[in-house]
Amino acid sequence: MELQNAIESRRSTREFTERKLTKAEINEILRAGVLAPSACNMQSWYFYIVCDEREREKLKEVCADWVSAAPVVIIVCTDDNGIVSRFGDRGRKFPMQDTSLAMENMLLKATDMGLGGCIIGAYKQNRLNELFNIPREHTAVALLPIGEPKEKIPPRDRKEIGEVSSYIGEEPEEGKIKPKPFELKHAYLPNAEFSDIGLPNALFDDVNLSETKFNNVNLLKAEYSDINLSGAKYSAVNMTGSEFKCVELNGAKFGCCEICESEGKYCVEMKESLFDSVDINGSKLNHCSLESSVLTDVKMAGAKLYDIDLDEADLSGVNMVSSNIRCTNLFGATLKNCCLINAALEGCDIEGMTVDGVDVAEAIKAFKDRAK
Ligand SMILES: Cc1cc2nc3c(=O)[nH]c(=O)nc-3n(C[C@H](O)[C@H](O)[C@H](O)COP(=O)(O)O)c2cc1C
Repeated sequence: MELQNAIESRRSTREFTERKLTKAEINEILRAGVLAPSACNMQSWYFYIVCDEREREKLKEVCADWVSAAPVVIIVCTDDNGIVSRFGDRGRKFPMQDTSLAMENMLLKATDMGLGGCIIGAYKQNRLNELFNIPREHTAVALLPIGEPKEKIPPRDRKEIGEVSSYIGEEPEEGKIKPKPFELKHAYLPNAEFSDIGLPNALFDDVNLSETKFNNVNLLKAEYSDINLSGAKYSAVNMTGSEFKCVELNGAKFGCCEICESEGKYCVEMKESLFDSVDINGSKLNHCSLESSVLTDVKMAGAKLYDIDLDEADLSGVNMVSSNIRCTNLFGATLKNCCLINAALEGCDIEGMTVDGVDVAEAIKAFKDRAK
């Protein structure tokens, strides 16, 4: 569930089904609680969990009857050890603030899990302490009954924002809310199609998008990890500033795309791929394979290609001005009408390479020197 959904759908739940909660479910809720912020991270909270039916029955003596009908009741306490001695009087409010934040986290987590709960502030404090032998250093601040809601509860009214808030000094511009970037995780979506869409800062993680078509898509500053994009077709896609980690792009086709200032690291496989009129100026590629790929009219000015396999690749009309290519396997590669002025080709394996109509300048001299 999205956070916004959990916030909107959380309701104080006072009627529960018979369903018991497992220890794993209770731990999940408690874990959400302890992830709340706390003053100086002192985590001045302590939770007593009452699931046992006979123990829950005792709660009828201290609060409304319906509370004991919940399968789990958490007695939320402050742990006053240390916090006041550390902060003095100033610290007195901290344990209450810590526990309140933990309770909201637990309620949101419960909502996320299809459960519900309610903060109970009305109970007999002394009797509660006696019944459950709560030690002096723990002060109960609320009860938190949690369970599966019996029915959907309608929302309660809230005051308008303007009624409960005001700006001190100048107000910001009205503006718009920046949309959350697109996220796709752990999905199997081969043959998908993305067209005429803006997905800046998108995140793709552990997704199979093989044979997917991207047409006129804004994928600026996207992040890809563990993605299968083999056979994908990119046309008029702006991928500037993107990051590729463990991406399979074998047999992919890129036409009229911009992939400038991007970075490919760890196993980016682009064997037999096709780049036509693509701009990869200023991009960095590390440990990638472009074996048997065809690059036509590609701009690579200022690109950095380290440990790249370009075996049998065909590079035609590629502009590599001032590029830095190190330890690259260019075995059997064909370079036609390429501009390599000032390109630094260090430690490249160029055996069997065809260099045809290439603007030799410094780069080819370096090639020849190495070939000797
Ligand atoms: C500090 C605090 C104490 C509360 N005490 C009780 C209580 O003793 N009994 C109860 O039924 N609800 C209690 N509630 C729940 C509120 O009634 C409830 O949050 C409020 O009516 C808004 O409804 P909602 O939570 O469904 O949005 C308490 C809530 C808070 C934050």
